[in-house]
This record gives sequence, structure tokens and C-alpha cells, in this order.
Amino acid sequence: MTWWDNAVGYEVYIRSFADSDGDGIGDLDGLTARLDHLAWLGADLLWVTPFYPSPLKDFGYDVADYLDVHPNYGDLEAFDRCLARCHELGIRMLIDLVPNHTSDQHPWFLDAIAGRHSAHRDYYIFRPPRSDGGPPNNWVSHFGGPAWTLDPNSGEYYCHLFLPEQPDLNWANPAVQAEFESIIASWLGRGVDGFRIDVAHGLCKDPALADNPQIAEITPDMSPREVFAAFEHVYDLERPETGDIYRQWRRIADHHDALLLGEVNVGDVSVSRQYLGEDGLHRALYFGLNDRPWDAEAFASDLRRAAEIAPDGGFSWAISNHDEPRPVTRFGGGGVGLDRSLAIWVAFAGLPGTPFLYQGEELGLEDCVIERDDVHDPVGLASYEEGRDPCRTPMPWEPGEQLGFTTASRAWLASPTRDATETVAAQRDQPGSPLHRFRDLLTARREMSPLRRGPLEWITDEPGVVAFRRGEVVHLSNLGDHPVAIDLPPGEWGIRYDSGSGLKSEGKKTEIPAALAPRSGMILRRSGST
Ligand code: NOJ
Repeated sequence: MTWWDNAVGYEVYIRSFADSDGDGIGDLDGLTARLDHLAWLGADLLWVTPFYPSPLKDFGYDVADYLDVHPNYGDLEAFDRCLARCHELGIRMLIDLVPNHTSDQHPWFLDAIAGRHSAHRDYYIFRPPRSDGGPPNNWVSHFGGPAWTLDPNSGEYYCHLFLPEQPDLNWANPAVQAEFESIIASWLGRGVDGFRIDVAHGLCKDPALADNPQIAEITPDMSPREVFAAFEHVYDLERPETGDIYRQWRRIADHHDALLLGEVNVGDVSVSRQYLGEDGLHRALYFGLNDRPWDAEAFASDLRRAAEIAPDGGFSWAISNHDEPRPVTRFGGGGVGLDRSLAIWVAFAGLPGTPFLYQGEELGLEDCVIERDDVHDPVGLASYEEGRDPCRTPMPWEPGEQLGFTTASRAWLASPTRDATETVAAQRDQPGSPLHRFRDLLTARREMSPLRRGPLEWITDEPGVVAFRRGEVVHLSNLGDHPVAIDLPPGEWGIRYDSGSGLKSEGKKTEIPAALAPRSGMILRRSGST
């Protein structure tokens, strides 16, 4: 049993959470002032996205100094205040470690491009052009174009799986490994409780830098994401050598009882599972239900399969983050989208694992519409439809100017389509709001954790349904659009949580309906269990 087994995670996109100094940009003091919201909600494991010095070409995932704070977000003292307040409230904090690449403004890269024999040249992946002058191989960047940019100074190309301003580090170099071990040790010494590891399936590359097999035709109208998917990423991602890196990190993390949570964003859960285990990462975020259209039957069966092959501790279940359209929008919008999200969350709340909310998910927020001339995200600039700004707009706190996010007249990213009813304050005052339905779910999860022990037993394989028993607790989720009758395990069961109406009082006997309503979930408790 570890401290994160029963934890509930909450992702904060620092730029858009809360602004304390009126510059229109979220910051660490703003986050500190709003941590009570997480405590009230029942989230006790914060993941905060990168706050380091950065040219912000990819809004912080281009790090220029791993050990400091960007002035937009405060300074190291503000960080310490935030961490101390977290710990006072019983919240643990993960920070975002970005080891696959740095910013092109990182001193290591500035030195690397100073000359072929510079001290940090081998921190990055430089190669001469092919005989025709083109890039060394056929790798493409996630964000569009080749994964290689010519360094005019040396006439060699350098590798970048994301923007040209995000050069990839050379993880075959022991000096790079040593740098990161020291970065990790430094933050652990400062008191953080672990790391969310960006692009955890990246890092190591094939030493021969072989061409990736192309599996689909590429046409000029394809978006960067589609072009990236036209290759099998055999040589640039998911290299077995990456496991050796995590073996080292794991020793350091375990020494501090710290959590290593990987962004192992691969299509197949059996692959992400390989990064976990006693010698690897503790947890991996689950991406199985992201980036695809709603399909109740496929979602339910994929979730069941993921739970079956998950390691003992489970995955970090999630349907939302700062890179994907918000689930309510993806799942059909409005009440339908919200009900579907909550039905999935009823399963997340009972499966072994550490589920993660993304800020505003508890409010049932939908994506904002971002006008073309207000796009900030580099992905959106390359392909408007795939832009990530719509899910990154400021958190709505209370009715009034800028919905309580900032005292500035304009936030760094406008949220033109939000209104007062979506704010935390309004929803706290309204029984039955999305916020109360989520909070009640987390309360039920927490209260019943001592009863949710023992192996997971599936109750039915009905299409579109995820239903299981763990010890004295049953979780039922009907993702489909029709009522489904379910045979409960023997014994007397009472409803403790209903995704439509929230927590049920323990004393009051509630009839279990003959059929589970469409797009709903319930948590049942065996009567008499203590
Ligand atoms: C994954 C992060 O979540 C995303 O925001 C970022 O653009 C890429 N990694 C590159 O660091």
C-alpha cells in the first residue's frame, strides 16, 4: 500500500488556473490561494504543469532552466509557499519533468550550437545531412514538418520530435543522465512528492537513427497529427533502453517515497504497462479514451481490458488534460456529455489506480471557442482544428469580471463562451451541480476505500457496461443509451452514490432500480459492512 493508492489527482495548468498579480497570467501564488478548492473537492494529489523559465514557445514544455521559476509564475519562494500550503492541506505535489527535450534557449543548447566540439554538443542529437543535403532520416515532428532542423553554423541537423525550438536530448550520453538525476534529487530535496514525466515513452532513440516504417500514404491536406500517425514509431519512440533510465530514477524516487507518473501516451495499454513495475515507473496516465469519438461499447470494453492488464496498482485513469478537447465536448456536449463523463468517472473511482481530474472537469466545462486570430498554441497555429487552446482557457472562479481568474482587463487567453453559472462559486451554491456530483463521487470513493479491498470481479460483460465488485463495494457504469438490468452479487446492497443525484445518506434505504439508467453510474455498498 502506498500513499497514492487511494489518492485523487488534479492537474493544474498553471497559466490558466489563478492569477495573483493582475498580469492576466496564472501563477504560483494564485494557485496557493486556490488550493482550498482542491481540498474541498477531495483531490489530494496535485500535478502542476511546467512553471520553469522558458521562452514559452510550447507554453512551458520548452524548458530553459530546470531549477528555477519563470517570472510570469513567481519565483522559488512562491514555489516553496505553494508546496508548504499543499502539505498543510494534506495535498501532495507532483511537478512536471520534461526530459525528452529542452528549449533551444537552454544554456546546454546554446553551447551545443556554438561549435561542433563544444562541451554540450553531445547533449543533443546532431547528424550530418544525407548525401542529397536533406535530413538524416524520415522522422517527422509531432507538431509538423521533419523532426530535423539544420544548424546553419555547423551544417548539421539536430533532432526534435516537437518544435524546432525544442531540441531532443541525447539520452545515450551519461552526462545527460547525470544532469537529470541531479535535477530530480534537487526537487525532491525541496520537498516535492514526485514527478509527472513528459513524453515518458520518448527519451532514448535508435542509435542508428533508422527510418521509421511508413504505414499510410501522406497527402498534402493531412494535419501534423495525421502525418505523425502515418509512421510506425519504431526508432524514435518506445525504445527499450528508456527502461534503464527509469530503473535509476526509481531508486532515487523510492528513497524519498516519491511518485513517478509517466505520460506514456501510446495507443496500446499493453505497451504503457511495460513502463511500470518494481523497476520502472510507479504509474502511467491512461490515454485509452482520449483522441477518439464517443463509442459506448468500445469505451466500456477498452476500459475493462485496460483494468485487466493493468499492473497491481492500476493506471492513472483520466479522460481530460491540457492537450485534448474537454470530455463533455468530445462526448456529445451539454447534459449528455456530462452524464457520460460522470458514468466513466464512477468506474475510475473504483478501479485500482490513481485517477486524475483536469482543472474545470469537476465543473463539467466544455471547450471554449477560440477565434482564429486568438490562437496561441503552436499546434493550433499549424492546424486550427487541432489547437489545444479551447481546453486551456482560464478557470472560472466566481461571477464578475474575468470570472475571478484575474483582475486584469484581459486574460492571456480569452474565454469568450463561459458564463457565471459555470463558476466554482455558483456551482458550490447549487445542489446537483456538476461540481457537487463530482465532489460527492470523490467523497464516496474516499469513504469506501477501506471496504474496496480484494480482487476485482466483473459482474457482467453486457456491452457498454463496466460493472465490478471489489470487496464490499460495487461500481456500476452504463455508458450506453438504453437502460440495462444487472444481476447484483448475492447479499444486501444499498446505493451510496448515484451519478445523477449524488451521495445518498447512509441511514435512508434507497431502492435499487431494476435497471441501470442510460449514461449513469452508481456505487453500492453491502449492507452491514463496516
Ligand atoms: C506533452 C505535453 O502534455 C504537451 O503539452 C507538450 O506539448 C508535449 N508533451 C511536448 O512537451
